[in-house]
Amino acid sequence: MQTIVKLITFTIGVTLVFSACSNNQPTEISKNNFEEKEMKKEALDAIKVVGGAFQKTLSSKISNGGLPNAATFCSTNSHDLAQEVFKTLPQGISLKRITSKPRNPNNKASKEELLVLNQLKNNFEKNQSLDMIVKQKSPNHYQVYKPIKVDAICLKCHGTNTIRDEKAYDIILKMYPTDKAIGYALNDFRGAFLVDIIK
Ligand code: HEC
Repeated sequence: MQTIVKLITFTIGVTLVFSACSNNQPTEISKNNFEEKEMKKEALDAIKVVGGAFQKTLSSKISNGGLPNAATFCSTNSHDLAQEVFKTLPQGISLKRITSKPRNPNNKASKEELLVLNQLKNNFEKNQSLDMIVKQKSPNHYQVYKPIKVDAICLKCHGTNTIRDEKAYDIILKMYPTDKAIGYALNDFRGAFLVDIIK
């Protein structure tokens, strides 16, 4: 009898520990299953919508008024554009950018997000992989991480002192006095898009 009680107590204990873990520690869903592919597709669609809108506006700001004009836009009105574009995403889908070296402190990766960022960074540095990682937080809640790398144009606002556009960076530093997002080189790992999907 005592053994049975012990066994039941043990089983309940184990179940509790595991369910507690599964709440805190999102699981990476197995590669190439249908769900994973579907989530990646939805995430890419959202990134294309948001990224496309930003790229268009950024290039037009650079060609009309140069990098300082673009810097003013990124530091201020880009948040309004983001709100507008986010409204066009399907219900249940939201998107943000995260990094370990933030310009905007709101974009600093949480401890949990940082673990995935480091995983993406290792994959990127090992074999230039820009593959996404999908995490399942609960039965109907997914998070898709897509790496972001540094291109030549990014260096104007995120590069080292010698390569940055001075005027643009003066504007940026006024808006983000605690900026950590500089010193990057071409093809560095910069952070990730994090697409949150609730089904
Ligand atoms: C004209 C200046 C400018 C250029 C060019 C630029 N950025 Fe930024 N970047 C900014 C500003 C300003 C912010 C802060 C925006 C905010 O408040 O979310 C930012 C924020 C970011 C963030 C969010 C994380 C953080 O540090 O707050 C990422 C990721 C990022 N930039 C990547 C890039 C990449 C990749 C490129 C090149 C394709 C690029 N940036 C080009 C000015 C620039």
